[in-house]
Amino acid sequence: MFKRLPGDEARNLVSTTPDTAVVFRPAVVTTPALLTIVILVVRTVARLVRTVWRHPIAALIPTALGAVWYFYGWPLAAALSGTIVLALTSWAFLDRPSFARLVGYRLLAWWRLIWIYRRHWQPVMIVSGLGRHLRGRDYLPRLGKVTCTSWADLVTVRMLKGQTVKDWADRLDHLAQGFGAKSCRVAVSRAGWLTLTFPRSDPLASPLPALDIPEEPTVGPVEIGKGEDGRPWRLKVHGTHVLVAGATGAGKGSIIWSVIRSLLPAVSAGLVELWALDPKLMELPYGRDLFGDRYAATPEECADLLDEAVSVMQKRAARFAGSQRSHIPTVEDPFVLVVVDEVAFLTAYQSDRQLRQRISAALATLTTQGRAVGVGVLAALQDPRKEVMNVRNLFPDKIALRLDESEQVDMVLGDGARDRGALADHISPVPEQGAGVGYVRLETSPEPIRVRAAYVSDHDIRAMVDAFRGEAA
Ligand SMILES: Nc1ncnc2c1ncn2[C@@H]1O[C@H](COP(=O)(O)OP(=O)(O)OP(=O)(O)O)[C@@H](O)[C@H]1O
Ligand SMILES: [Mg+2]
Repeated sequence: MFKRLPGDEARNLVSTTPDTAVVFRPAVVTTPALLTIVILVVRTVARLVRTVWRHPIAALIPTALGAVWYFYGWPLAAALSGTIVLALTSWAFLDRPSFARLVGYRLLAWWRLIWIYRRHWQPVMIVSGLGRHLRGRDYLPRLGKVTCTSWADLVTVRMLKGQTVKDWADRLDHLAQGFGAKSCRVAVSRAGWLTLTFPRSDPLASPLPALDIPEEPTVGPVEIGKGEDGRPWRLKVHGTHVLVAGATGAGKGSIIWSVIRSLLPAVSAGLVELWALDPKLMELPYGRDLFGDRYAATPEECADLLDEAVSVMQKRAARFAGSQRSHIPTVEDPFVLVVVDEVAFLTAYQSDRQLRQRISAALATLTTQGRAVGVGVLAALQDPRKEVMNVRNLFPDKIALRLDESEQVDMVLGDGARDRGALADHISPVPEQGAGVGYVRLETSPEPIRVRAAYVSDHDIRAMVDAFRGEAA
């Protein structure tokens, strides 16, 4: 019934050792052809069932069209397909977002699964060393689902048994280049499964103009920019302390000013007080009038202002003791935000040792005890090394803007952040492309998120000062 294939010749192969008469003849076990056919049929049926189960609508449309063709002839089937295409096109034009969400991104995901990920999966896995080729067989991590969002492809992967997340994190560049993306990020979705994120475009490539000043006074997480997923970036300032690290020109000013800007209504309502320390004399003088007399520039003034903040804090703590465990901003007890630009000028580069110790002690006291009584610190610095900023770890929330060296990323965001894709040392030094761009870690997840702060220009600051002058005093 079946033709003899060359494979059958294996039984006639003979090998001998060089100078003895020992003969090796391979044992060939013939698999009955019927068994092979049954296995193939079962596999095809299983795949078909899985496809129908996973994509019921995509399977239903061609089946229904086929049925119409069979029972009513091709003209009706052609007319019906024309109508479907027309309906989808009009939907795409009339309501793009809902079309994209329900149809567009799914079609794109399917296309990218087949054309990019499945096609290149085997070579990329083997060459990058994530898959193994053993005894003629490929052992590859399993490619799962591909989901498209407006800016990235999310690819789920089942790791090989015995692999670690670090194996993947070490090969992000192989993966990005292999699948034609600019970068790649890895996150654990559940035990043994990863989600790889391949950005298709960069929604943060162009500067964001300053956001509108909120209409209602708020101290809750304040909106200061945009996340890579297109969602607003909200920074919590009340009930925490924030450290912003970034090389010179990284855009630390835009974070400080965006925070100040969004707190202004609360400042005029008396719920927030802004205290400013500007030892570098570069960032905050523009907005001096917003801070009233709580503005310090020389190291001595800064030390005095910090001491004053400590005493406000201690008085409150004494009053709250036993009656209140967390702070709710009121006109009597407003939230005090101490903004410090270039904090290293006060802690490390200060030549007067006594002053330096006084300032460091005040900062450490504020950051360890201020949170619950409504005193917060927002500090910016260029160099995140421990020698420069010994109270670095007392800030619960940290933001890494563009940094000069890769080791600095983990100093700011914690161990392993760079491995998981926080490439703060790769952010462009060109201000239009990279200033204000950074990575943050949210409390809820260890994965770093890429964000960009809105740019508050000098003109915006002047307008803010004109509108809110003297309200803080
Ligand atoms: N969010 C932003 N979007 C676009 N451009 C920005 C943004 N923030 C800052 N810039 C541009 O980058 C330049 C440097 O920003 P900025 O002065 O805030 O940096 P910095 O981190 O404070 O630097 P330094 O440590 O030297 O003070 C600004 O003059 C501005 O033109
Ligand atoms: Mg600055």
